Amino acid sequence: MNTRLSKMTDWLIEQNQDFAYIHSSSNVFYLSSFHCEPHERLLGLFIVPNQEPFLVVPGMEVSQARDAGWEYEIIGYSDSEDPFDFIHEALKERGVHQPTSASIEKGTLAYERAEELQTRYPKLQYHSAELGLNQFRLIKDEEEIEVLREAAALADFGVETGVKALREGITEMEVLATIEFELKKKGIREMSFSTMVLFGEKSGQPHGNPGDRQLKKGDLVLFDLGVVLNGYCSDITRTVAFGEVNEKQEEIYNTVLRAQIESLHISKPGTRLGDIDLAARNVISNAGYGDYFPHRIGHGIGIEVHEFPSMSEKNNSLLQKGMTYTIEPGIYLPDVGGVRIEDDVLVTENGYETLTKYPKELQIIE
Ligand code: GLY
Ligand code: MN
Ligand code: MN
Repeated sequence: MNTRLSKMTDWLIEQNQDFAYIHSSSNVFYLSSFHCEPHERLLGLFIVPNQEPFLVVPGMEVSQARDAGWEYEIIGYSDSEDPFDFIHEALKERGVHQPTSASIEKGTLAYERAEELQTRYPKLQYHSAELGLNQFRLIKDEEEIEVLREAAALADFGVETGVKALREGITEMEVLATIEFELKKKGIREMSFSTMVLFGEKSGQPHGNPGDRQLKKGDLVLFDLGVVLNGYCSDITRTVAFGEVNEKQEEIYNTVLRAQIESLHISKPGTRLGDIDLAARNVISNAGYGDYFPHRIGHGIGIEVHEFPSMSEKNNSLLQKGMTYTIEPGIYLPDVGGVRIEDDVLVTENGYETLTKYPKELQIIE
């Protein structure tokens, strides 16, 4: 049994659980190495202490699960079959007849699926599987770090490609298409979220939608993008100026850069997570832009682009070696434009390493 599965099994025993039903693509991937996007169909990894685990997958995914290296039972079902009938039988074969406690991902399992199990097992009570899994996924191992590094390098390449494509009159969508085309040529099938390329006043919306806005001299240009590589995500934001930069733009750029560097510099084992947020927030507030930094400093990153932990000022947990997260302060001025600078960060033995490495000094693109 792989070490992740045995760690999860030990945790289930410690928590007095009869079984775990893991349904999310990310946690199934983490525990089994099998990545599946089942859409509305049921995907389930069932872990029963002291018994063999089993996977339940849409029938057409069975061979892919086997190819991913899953060595235990795989139950495939067709669109006209009820997967819960198979689950019931497989649990029975493993001695689970009237379970009273199961770990599920409470944050995301569909209510009707949780209800379906409780209809079959009326005494079943639920426990949060995330309490274990989030802690396990928090610390990345060497193999995961290597993939995250490569994913980050491809995000750097995406920004570099976007910057090179800038010319007067080009639209946001044209630049976005160039970035994704070049990444596809490098084998990237999936971006980790919808790529953002925002010009001028549109960069003033933290999560704006790219469209047919044409680039003109004096615009700030904000790129926010990331790739999925071998199941792991990257996420970078860079802002550049096109043609010229005015005093206000330069001031907010340099404020965000100072804020980002403050947060980076205190990234090391033992730092309170909330202090990472506060370090940047203090710089931005002291410069008079506190009201224009409306989001937390960042989020954990790994199999999911936003994962545990939340890097908010209220988080009292301490940084540990092997954690990966983003640092992405921003200032967004309506009608003027915005600046955000975002890196993916790894906590090392004594400090940090930024996985994304695209330069951060203000660039004026001619
Ligand atoms: N693009 C979303 C984020 O940076 O978190
Ligand atoms: Mn981002
Ligand atoms: Mn981010």
